[in-house]
Amino acid sequence: ILNGNEPQDPFSISLVSDELSAIADQLRAMEPQDPFSLVSDELSLIADKLRAMVVSKVPELAFAAEYFFKTGVEGKRFRPTVLLLLSNALNVSIPEPPTQPKPPMRLEDYFPTELRARQQCIAEATEMIHVASLLHDDVLDDGDTRRGVDSLNSVVGNKLAVLAGDFLLSRACVALASLRNTEVFTLLSTVLEHLVTGETMQMTSAADQRCSMEYYMEKTYYKTASLISNSCKAIAILAGHTKEVEMLAFDYGKNLGLAFQLMDDVLDFTGTSASLGKGSLSDIRHGIITAPILFAMEEFPQLRAVVEQGFDNPENIEMAIDYLGKSKGIQRTRELARKHARLAAEAIECLPESDDENVRRSRRALQDLTHIVITRTK
Ligand code: FPP
Ligand code: FPP
Ligand code: MG
Ligand code: MG
Repeated sequence: ILNGNEPQDPFSISLVSDELSAIADQLRAMEPQDPFSLVSDELSLIADKLRAMVVSKVPELAFAAEYFFKTGVEGKRFRPTVLLLLSNALNVSIPEPPTQPKPPMRLEDYFPTELRARQQCIAEATEMIHVASLLHDDVLDDGDTRRGVDSLNSVVGNKLAVLAGDFLLSRACVALASLRNTEVFTLLSTVLEHLVTGETMQMTSAADQRCSMEYYMEKTYYKTASLISNSCKAIAILAGHTKEVEMLAFDYGKNLGLAFQLMDDVLDFTGTSASLGKGSLSDIRHGIITAPILFAMEEFPQLRAVVEQGFDNPENIEMAIDYLGKSKGIQRTRELARKHARLAAEAIECLPESDDENVRRSRRALQDLTHIVITRTK
């Protein structure tokens, strides 16, 4: 009589045990993770690869080119982290065109390591372009420290630092060309144009342009967000995704980059303490007008005259900071950064659904990054 009716361990009931383990997987994927730790092994591989990619037979050039790829001075590696996490996040089955009756297969099932190696190549080229732009930037800004050490220009002089930047760009181009994907090559080449455009817009702006929020956002896209957004798009293109997914990848990178830069502009005024005026004020000292001052100007139009006079006179800096303190400039810049961070997180939300735990974890990490960007204090 009892057969089949014995009391059972409720956890072993096969009817729900699969479901329970699926829920456990989901919960694990929802746990906040250190976004960097998910791809840390692969980041080390990329670091080794980068060191091998920048060798030169000319000793002076070899020293200069590898300077920022040495262990300990590799920087935050924000871009390769984002690009590897995105490669994971997009690792979903791509629907076959309807004419093909075969069940859809994941691209990685066809060539698992080959696709990944190609995506890693985007991460490597992106980091080389980034470092090249920093080498040139320190020449233009007369920067004497970078990543906590002497800048390259201060060690080897401007001429060799510029050449080392050019050398890195050419190595990045060779790496990208090896992918034999014209669309990806064009995207990343256009990023180089954008970096130069953004830097030149910043350097040569007329008073009217310096006071325009539109000009500032355009310059910020070129200088900061174009590299990460287009590399994100390249990751999606290599995986063979639809135009919609390519666009979501692009939107994630663009909005993350913009949020990052807006917070950078806030931190330049606020530093690590929340109070005004304790930041490094490096932008305004260099005559660079950023979002907090632009918002303050909307509230206090008289600030425009100060901005137009320039900031060679320290009294003008004090006056601008004064207006900024009375205004909602910092608060509104933070709100704008939060808006872009939210748009970035939403782009990840809109990706095609996936039950794969690694995919879900990586998406969660990408969303966590948007939060880290807007809550950082240094
Ligand atoms: C140095 O980059 C700073 C810049 C090139 C200014 C703009 C860059 C950002 C605001 C980062 C945006 C990028 C993402 C992915 C959100 P860095 O601070 O990354 O320098 P590092 O490589 O030395 O850490
Ligand atoms: C950091 O800005 C620099 C950039 C975001 C890009 C600079 C671009 C160029 C110099 C154009 C040349 C481009 C290539 C590809 C060689 P920052 O000075 O605001 O930040 P920092 O505080 O890190 O110096
Ligand atoms: Mg600089
Ligand atoms: Mg600069």
